[in-house]
Amino acid sequence: MSGVRTELFRIISISIWSVAAVAGMFLVPGFLACPPAFAQLSTSDHLGEPGFWPTQNVASRDQFAGAAVCANCHAAKTASQKLTSMARTSLHADGSEILHSHPKMNFAVGDYHYEIKTGAKESSYTVTGGTEGSNTISATLLWAFGIGRVAQSYLFKKGDGNFYESRVTYFTTLQNLNFTPARALASPKDVAEAMYRPVPSTEIVRCFGCHTTASTIGGQFDEKNLILGVSCEACHGPGVKHVAAMQAAALAGTTENSAETIVNPARLNPVDMVDFCGACHGTWWDVKFSGGKGVTTARSAPFRLEESKCWGKGDTRLTCIACHDPHVEVRTDPTSYDRACLSCHPASGTAKTASTEPSMHPSGHPAGTKDCVTCHMPKVYDPDMHYKFTDHRIRIVHEGEAYPD
Ligand code: HEC
Ligand code: HEC
Ligand code: HEC
Ligand code: HEC
Ligand code: HEC
Ligand code: HEC
Ligand code: HEC
Repeated sequence: MSGVRTELFRIISISIWSVAAVAGMFLVPGFLACPPAFAQLSTSDHLGEPGFWPTQNVASRDQFAGAAVCANCHAAKTASQKLTSMARTSLHADGSEILHSHPKMNFAVGDYHYEIKTGAKESSYTVTGGTEGSNTISATLLWAFGIGRVAQSYLFKKGDGNFYESRVTYFTTLQNLNFTPARALASPKDVAEAMYRPVPSTEIVRCFGCHTTASTIGGQFDEKNLILGVSCEACHGPGVKHVAAMQAAALAGTTENSAETIVNPARLNPVDMVDFCGACHGTWWDVKFSGGKGVTTARSAPFRLEESKCWGKGDTRLTCIACHDPHVEVRTDPTSYDRACLSCHPASGTAKTASTEPSMHPSGHPAGTKDCVTCHMPKVYDPDMHYKFTDHRIRIVHEGEAYPD
């Protein structure tokens, strides 16, 4: 493991949607006199290391097999994974259930009126208004990002072939449109500015890097051949070699060491394991570099988790996969998370081993012996997202306290 590499000046300018970035800013790191046993890194540092890392550029599209091929041998995992929000997080706008089930959505603010109208074939996005009389512009939506667990946002193109982000987003808690987070303008200069934000091509590569699979091939953005959503090979790396080796082994009636042909992130040390999910969810350093503050950081589980006292210097009992199976949609029953807590905090009054049925709260507090996360991982409201995220900074919550940065 190489140590932490730091750059004197670094500019990060990712979209607000990127969990890792709130604003572009300059950074001067350079302390770390005694690096910890496992070093937390930024995603760009991980991408600079040899070997597979999520969101990386890959040499050839031919190296990807696609989930349908994985299904031949990993049927159960494929069947459950494809139902997750992660797997379905990007789609062509004409396939969006949200748009079809809300055929007409409106939002008005100041001088401007926003509408998304969906017919059998497509959705058109129209903005009307402006100070110099009433102007109208329309565009056909091309891409929908976010399955709508929290929100769904839209991209479209104009005659110039470039990407534009709609200034309004669908929020599930509102069942309607509102401003895209951090994109509200008090007084747009014209109807065009009110309607959209041009998205630079470097940023488009990043959006698709986190929301699709195999979208950047040989350094080129490949919109036509990309795989929708966070699919198997977004986390396991290109799989064609593995498929060929396993098929050959099956034919020959032998066994092949699968570790040599496919990435299994479970083998990473705990800090790298969290950084791995952080490639899209934002690592501790990604959030620090972006200057993220306040409740918006609750969108980055890796950052918040590593701010917990529980995390210490890293422990396999507290990585993302200690609580989440990435092949299954996030579980909402709090009891299912108790096992993870009890692996380190055995309930008092019982032997110091993990138990799913504690007789007493760890501190002896009468409060609770189960559903630990309901008190220690509070939901925090992000007004920009109109949503309550789960704060992964595990802690004793004091009534009325401010959100701990
Ligand atoms: C660094 C990776 C990354 C980039 C870049 C990125 N996203 Fe995301 N996006 C995520 C992750 C991770 C989530 C899930 C956050 C959550 O809900 O916990 C997400 C969620 C969303 C959501 C649903 C709202 C939510 O918080 O769940 C929308 C909409 C979205 N992204 C749109 C975009 C658009 C549009 C772009 C580019 C302009 C973009 N994203 C760029 C990683 C990224
Ligand atoms: C290639 C990018 C990417 C990677 C790598 C990634 N995620 Fe995600 N994840 C997303 C995006 C995008 C969403 C938002 C899905 C939505 O709501 O539209 C998401 C949503 C989630 C959710 C909530 C919804 C669901 O599907 O259950 C969980 C939990 C989650 N991710 C856990 C993980 C874990 C654990 C890892 C590491 C093993 C991981 N993610 C790695 C991009 C990624
Ligand atoms: C968001 C990241 C992510 C995605 C997407 C993903 N995996 Fe995984 N996968 C993991 C992680 C992390 C592990 C190790 C932890 C575990 O076993 O769950 C893993 C483990 C595995 C294993 C070995 C587990 C075992 O039981 O020995 C297989 C096989 C596998 N994944 C197949 C798939 C297939 C097939 C798909 C697509 C349908 C897929 N994965 C999609 C992250 C992912
Ligand atoms: C021809 C059958 C076959 C196909 C197709 C296949 N696998 Fe596997 N895979 C296996 C076998 C056999 C193993 C080893 C035993 C096991 O873990 O199930 C394995 C193991 C794995 C592991 C665990 C690796 C380890 O050593 O820990 C992962 C991850 C994985 N496969 C992912 C995938 C993904 C992703 C795809 C699609 C790109 C895929 N597999 C396609 C047969 C296959
Ligand atoms: C890897 C082991 C590990 C896991 C898993 C773990 N913790 Fe901890 N936790 C610790 C350690 C170590 C401390 C710090 C103890 C200290 O500083 O005295 C701690 C501290 C705490 C504290 C006190 C924090 C404070 O602000 O003073 C609470 C509350 C807590 N843990 C609850 C939980 C809950 C709930 C879970 C499951 C969601 C959990 N822990 C999972 C190791 C763990
Ligand atoms: C100690 C258990 C625990 C660990 C470790 C953990 N999570 Fe979670 N996570 C939860 C709980 C509990 C929820 C809330 C589930 C619910 O009620 O919807 C959650 C929800 C989420 C969500 C959905 C959005 C939200 O904020 O509600 C995402 C995304 C997510 N976790 C990602 C991660 C990632 C990435 C990691 C690794 C850095 C991680 N989690 C580690 C317990 C955990
Ligand atoms: C109903 C809310 C509630 C539930 C449920 C709950 N706790 Fe607590 N927990 C508290 C409060 C309040 C404190 C602080 C007061 C105290 O120390 O007695 C606390 C303190 C702690 C501490 C710190 C102890 C110390 O001595 O510093 C740990 C560790 C902890 N809880 C773990 C857990 C675990 C593990 C579970 C699930 C088995 C759990 N808690 C369930 C409310 C709760």
